[in-house]
Amino acid sequence: MAGNALGTLFRITTFGESHGRAVGVLIDGVRPNMDFSEGDIQKELDRRRPGQSGVTTARSEADQVQVLSGVFEGKTLGTPICLLVWNKDQNPKAYDSIKNLFRPGHAGYTYLSKYGIQDYRGGGRSSGRETAGRVAAGGVAKQILAKRGIRIVGYTKSVDGITAQKIVFSEIEKNPVRCPDPEAAKKMERKILKVKKEGDSLGGVVEAVIRNCPAGLGDPVFDKLEADLAKALLSIPAIKGFEIGSGFAAAAMKGSEHNDEFYKEKGTGRIRTKTNYAGGILGGISNGEDIVVRVAVKPPSSIPKAQSTVDTRGKRRTIKVEGRHDPCLCPRVVPVVESMVALVIADHLVRQMLLRRTGSLGSVRNEIDFTDDMLMVLLSRRQELVREVGRLKRKGNVPIPDPRRERQIMGKRLALAADANLTPEFVKAVYKAVFEHSRRVQRKG
Ligand SMILES: Cc1cc2nc3c(=O)[nH]c(=O)nc-3n(C[C@H](O)[C@H](O)[C@H](O)COP(=O)(O)O)c2cc1C
Repeated sequence: MAGNALGTLFRITTFGESHGRAVGVLIDGVRPNMDFSEGDIQKELDRRRPGQSGVTTARSEADQVQVLSGVFEGKTLGTPICLLVWNKDQNPKAYDSIKNLFRPGHAGYTYLSKYGIQDYRGGGRSSGRETAGRVAAGGVAKQILAKRGIRIVGYTKSVDGITAQKIVFSEIEKNPVRCPDPEAAKKMERKILKVKKEGDSLGGVVEAVIRNCPAGLGDPVFDKLEADLAKALLSIPAIKGFEIGSGFAAAAMKGSEHNDEFYKEKGTGRIRTKTNYAGGILGGISNGEDIVVRVAVKPPSSIPKAQSTVDTRGKRRTIKVEGRHDPCLCPRVVPVVESMVALVIADHLVRQMLLRRTGSLGSVRNEIDFTDDMLMVLLSRRQELVREVGRLKRKGNVPIPDPRRERQIMGKRLALAADANLTPEFVKAVYKAVFEHSRRVQRKG
């Protein structure tokens, strides 16, 4: 069934359900002979995994990654990489009481409408657990980007109206909400725990910054970089909004305020902008400034508070979702956002390298090899034709050397030489060798 894959050249397909045997990802398009660190992927999964603190779900999964294919002795093989995470701490019994009830805000009703069948345990494929595969793949994409100095940092910007007043990257991983402002982090944590006690949940805003992204990534018009980022980020469960740069605030600004003024940076000579309302992308193409994206994370729907709903036959019922659920998704969404961003940027990087393939000595040599291969095909075809000419000449007792014909061929080639940007000396030398070879072939047959 379609809809499980993302990317064009660097492409991922995720698989698995929350309470099935495993979740995972298949990654295609990773170059061979690249260093591959399983440890770095595990680090990313550890940041996403449940049971990290009081503000996340109590489900306790080790989320140990297993590399099933595509890697040999720490290097990529250029073949598909399959990464798997077993589901271990399942508690399907917790879902027995709500088996036939539609959880308000969850995907049971729409999955059933679409497929006519659904794995109700933990949301099945619609569960946040599916994102383990995305994060594992994001770990691979991050390794590719890191080699080019591209870094992605995500964090919780706000929770229930409490907003980070400063962005200190080194603070993010020091608090359970992953907020770059320690003061705001404390307030957020207190608020989440209070609302959790009340049997409810909270939403928030997660922001990500992409540093050192080169100018030129993004394929207008339908694969604009921000369009692909929006699609990737909105595909994360529980994401209800996307912004880039000034986002919705742009609607209330004047052109003179919103335009980012260009200047030439001293020292590097780079063209830069003084402000970054564009969020690092103009016309769908990265401009070399930081790319800044934001997503709205909804309050998770699974709450123990009593709510009104209907069962699968439409009968009015009351539901209390007990189980182990996140009271606020932001801390666990942070690594998922970073991963989706990394996947999109890695894909566009590969696409750009193909477009501007004359970038490195290796790629230019590849082009030369390809051209030489074509030359061999053409020379071989010419030799075949020359052999046929020799057969006809011998049959008709026509002399093999034909200086008039040779002068004709040479004259025509020299006339074309200038247009083809080739010197007459070079063309003469090539055709001298060609004529000698032709006479030999015609004589021998
Ligand atoms: C990492 C992660 C963990 C999640 N955990 C929960 C959860 O514990 N309880 C819940 O109701 N929803 C959770 N969700 C959100 C649901 O999967 C999502 O709301 C549901 O599939 C409906 O999809 P929608 O909100 O995108 O429309 C989680 C999402 C993510 C990304």
